Amino acid sequence: EKRVIGIDLGGTNIKVAAVDESGKIVVKEERPTEAPRGAAFVLDRIADMARTVAQRAGWSWNDVTGIGAGIPGFLDFEKGMIEESPNLGWKKISVVEELNRRLQVPVVVENDANVAALGEAWIGAGRGHRHILAITIGTGIGGGLIIDGMIYHGANGMGGEIGHIVIDPQGDRCNCGNRGCLETITSATAIVRHAKRRLEAGEESSLQEVAALTARDVFDHARQGDAVACSVVGHMTETLGYALSLAANILNPELIVIGGGVSKAGDILFKPLYDSFSKYALARVCDAVAFRPAELGNDAGVLGAARLSMLASS
Ligand code: BGC
Ligand code: NA
Ligand code: ZN
Repeated sequence: EKRVIGIDLGGTNIKVAAVDESGKIVVKEERPTEAPRGAAFVLDRIADMARTVAQRAGWSWNDVTGIGAGIPGFLDFEKGMIEESPNLGWKKISVVEELNRRLQVPVVVENDANVAALGEAWIGAGRGHRHILAITIGTGIGGGLIIDGMIYHGANGMGGEIGHIVIDPQGDRCNCGNRGCLETITSATAIVRHAKRRLEAGEESSLQEVAALTARDVFDHARQGDAVACSVVGHMTETLGYALSLAANILNPELIVIGGGVSKAGDILFKPLYDSFSKYALARVCDAVAFRPAELGNDAGVLGAARLSMLASS
């Protein structure tokens, strides 16, 4: 029987869970990433969380069969290296080696969005589907491709990096160095930035009363009909639908899974998103595809990471 630990390293939070073979989360912990404190600090924190969840699950450390980790950024997954993580600000970190040294358990790493896609394909919205495009809307925009039931990596691990498709070459600077990437327009971070910009320009909006503005607030106020919120959401959904149509015309997926906190927004997100997508994608591509919110919600990362470890050791 496999007892694995799934790690979801995010730009904002780290989630670590003890997961059994059926995909049940036995224990889960969440702590802030605090990426500016550096890679060593974050890796220590992850190692500490891994030991804590195992202990709380009643597992002796020797019973842990493996660890899987989803990492936000460009990975050399064979070497277990982060080549670059735009949103953590890391370059060339040997995550597998660093975690092995701290934990003495086999570790596998994978891009965070690939891991979320794997989790959804395993026991979430993607069950039973062979061709899935999964995106995560959070600090960045992540993309994971499941093709013929397997994660598609491409030549050097960049397969699925939809967040850095350039939409507006004159747009905002992206953490990758380019301008106007999809994630500078449609990530949760971008939604907040765009809304704030409109408020700072003096536009009248119910968002003015919100203290620490989040993407969720923007969707909530759009639902109430606030003009600024509606326009920010409109621009976001139009752009994301367009970008997904580009990917879908190439990949012809059966399913597009939308994950990340924003995916809980419901119709206010999905309706205009699908309208935009179907305006641009080929009709036969539209006919074949279903849009679904991620089912595993906040747990997609830890579950997919756990699954990754199970697959690696089977
Ligand atoms: C990174 C991806 C990552 C995504 C979500 C993007 O900026 O390029 O590798 O999956 O953010 O964390
Ligand atoms: Na990816
Ligand atoms: Zn970029």
